[in-house]
Amino acid sequence: MMIALTKVTASAPGKVALFGEHAVVYGHQAMAGAIDRRVRVTVEQRSDDLIKIHAMDLSIPGIVLTIGGLGKDVSIETDYVRIMDAVGYIRKAIEVTSSHCGIKKGINVHIKSEMPVGAGLGTSAAVSVATILAYSTAMGHELKSDEVSALGHKVELEVQGAASPMDTAVATRGGILLIRPLIGKASITPVKVEQGLPLVVGYTPRECGTGEMLRRVRNLRDAAPESVDSILCSIGKVVSEADSAMRSGDLRRVGMLMNVNHGLLESIGVSTKKLNEMVYSARSAGALGSKLTGAGGGGCAIALCPGREQDVMTALSLAGGTAFRSSISGKGACIEKGESS
Ligand code: PMV
Repeated sequence: MMIALTKVTASAPGKVALFGEHAVVYGHQAMAGAIDRRVRVTVEQRSDDLIKIHAMDLSIPGIVLTIGGLGKDVSIETDYVRIMDAVGYIRKAIEVTSSHCGIKKGINVHIKSEMPVGAGLGTSAAVSVATILAYSTAMGHELKSDEVSALGHKVELEVQGAASPMDTAVATRGGILLIRPLIGKASITPVKVEQGLPLVVGYTPRECGTGEMLRRVRNLRDAAPESVDSILCSIGKVVSEADSAMRSGDLRRVGMLMNVNHGLLESIGVSTKKLNEMVYSARSAGALGSKLTGAGGGGCAIALCPGREQDVMTALSLAGGTAFRSSISGKGACIEKGESS
C-alpha cells in the first residue's frame, strides 16, 4: 500500500485497430497500436463522499451555438450523447476500482482528451484505464498493469454489453500488440516494426456508438451464422498474414492486407458511405493501404502512406474528413503527476 495522494493525474493513449476489429470479439486474433494522442484524467480527493465529474474538454467537434437575436431563445446543440457515454465509462471505472480495492471516498474527476471521443480511437478504453489508475493511486493502491487492464476490460464489458480485451490492453501497455483472446486470459504479444508505421487518420462524426455496432454485427451473425462466421474467420487469417508482414517490415504487403480487411468489414455492414469515400480517396492519393478503424458506423479511417502523408491528408479532407498524422506510441498508461497535501 502506498500513501494516499490528494490529487493525481494519469493518462492513457488512444489506439488504432490495425487489423481484426469485430472478429476479435468472437475469439479471433487482432492487432492494434497505441497512438500519440492521449486522454488525461485528474482525480482529486473530496472531504465528502460525492463523485463530481468535469468533462469539459473532450475534443468533440461540431458543438453548435445558435443565438436567435436579443431577447430570443438561445438554443445549444451539443454532442450530449457522446459526452454522457464518456461519463458512463468514468462512473463504471470508479465503481469497479472502488470494489476491487475496497475503497469508498468522494472525488472530483477532470477529464481531457487530445482526440475526439467515441470515434473509433479507443477513447472509452483510455478513459477507463486512466480513471482506474488515477483513482487507485490517489487512494494509495498500487495496481499491477495486468490488473488495470483487466479492470478496464470489465468496465467496457459492463457498459457496452460486449468487448474484447484489445483496447484496454493497448491503452495500458502502449506499442503495437497482437491480441489472441483465449478463454480466461488473453495472450498478448508486442509487435516490433523497425521502420515505424506512418499513418494518417481521417475522422468523421459517428452515427452510433461501439455498443450499437457490436449489437448490429451480433444480429447479422444470428441471421446468417455460417456466412458471417466465415467472414470473421477470414479476418482472423488476415491478421496472421499481417503479423508476418509487419515482422518482416514489408509495408506494401501490410497495406494490401489493410485493403482486404476493409472489404471484409464492409461485408459485415460496419462501414458507411463517408468511411468508404475516405478509404478510397486515401488509396487514390497514394496510400499503400487504408481501412476503417474501430467499430465503424462512421468515425475513423486509417491510411498507411509512407512519404505520401500530405497528399493523403488533403484527399481525406476533400472526402469530408478531418485528417491528422499519427504515429505509434510505445507509451502506455502512466501517472503524470501526484500531489500530497
Ligand atoms: O470503436 P472502438 O474504438 O470502441 O473499437 C471497438 C473495437 C471492436 O473490436 C469493435 C470492439 C472490441 O471490444 O474489440
